[in-house]
Amino acid sequence: MIDVALFGAGRIGKIHAGNLVRQPGARLKYVVDVDAVAAGALAEQHGANVAAADAVFDDAGVKAVVIASSTDTHADLILRAAAAGKAIFCEKPVDLALERARTCAAAVAKAGVQCLIGFQRRYDPTFAALKARIDAGEIGDPEMLVVTSRDPGAPPAEYLKRSGGIFKDMLIHDFDIFRWILDDEAESVYATGSVLTDPSIAAVGDIDATAVTIRTQRGRLAQINTIRRAAYGYDQRFEVIGTKGMLQAGNHKPTEVVAWNAAAIAADKPEHFFLERYRAAYAAEMAHFFEALARGTPVRTSIDDGVKALALAEAATASWREKRIVTP
Ligand SMILES: NC(=O)c1ccc[n+]([C@@H]2O[C@H](COP(=O)([O-])OP(=O)(O)OC[C@H]3O[C@@H](n4cnc5c(N)ncnc54)[C@H](O)[C@@H]3O)[C@@H](O)[C@H]2O)c1
Repeated sequence: MIDVALFGAGRIGKIHAGNLVRQPGARLKYVVDVDAVAAGALAEQHGANVAAADAVFDDAGVKAVVIASSTDTHADLILRAAAAGKAIFCEKPVDLALERARTCAAAVAKAGVQCLIGFQRRYDPTFAALKARIDAGEIGDPEMLVVTSRDPGAPPAEYLKRSGGIFKDMLIHDFDIFRWILDDEAESVYATGSVLTDPSIAAVGDIDATAVTIRTQRGRLAQINTIRRAAYGYDQRFEVIGTKGMLQAGNHKPTEVVAWNAAAIAADKPEHFFLERYRAAYAAEMAHFFEALARGTPVRTSIDDGVKALALAEAATASWREKRIVTP
């Protein structure tokens, strides 16, 4: 039985806590959050204790930490966990600064601890099946990728101010998908963007819609289109075009009920947002983490993947700001 501490009792922390306590080999011992009410409620729900960060790092019995606190806490907690020899599950992004993320990756490598970064889309049953079929050669050699990634609504400007911008906050997932699906690295990135949905986003120096074009080192092409507000809801789709055909993967609906009438045939909209759409992915991601710990095998989404996706986000940010093609 592995004792685990969870940092962050917010939106994603609650999801991870629920998945963590279902792992046969894990026990949630501590919940840490600067918001004592949030920490107390989540700890009570799962029979854990509220603790301060120092108590977690001083407790040699805690073998793993799950970092689901605000982005600006990730790097410090990764460094402390690595120094204490604890395995790490950390939400994206590793940090907002590439150099600091690289420092974290070096500390993890030096400590020899497992570190999974929360790119949950790779664990989604639909997207994982798409990737397995590409790897099995169904569409031959993949040549192009189109990623559609649209949110149902923008977060408040207060959140966006500290988010690191749309490329590091939102497209970081799409950059990870790009690397994973095409099994390649970017040679060049061109990103453009606009504020289309809400002028208050411009006031905090961010944008809410982007179009990114990537050429890979092996000459493959990818296009990513994103917007913070799609009127019809959360929309996450990929198309992979290869020498022998194309694979598509897309949205899930809450139910499969379809209404037919004289005017139209109507189905449910896609699941509301990431907490709903990726419910199964978050569960599979947590199970994978504890399996990797038990078997001593590498995690599927490593801190190096976190650093590489961040490098792409940084390149895209520079490309958008400076209106030029960037080599990451
Ligand atoms: N992979 C995904 O799909 C996904 C989805 C949502 C959020 N995230 C990431 O998860 C992180 C949390 O996002 P959220 O939406 O749950 O935010 P949130 O604001 O709902 O929760 C963050 C929590 O962290 C707490 N916190 C802040 N500083 C802390 C500290 N020093 N120690 C312990 N707790 C601290 C806050 O009090 C809050 O309760 C972010 O880094 C975000 O990028 C990932």
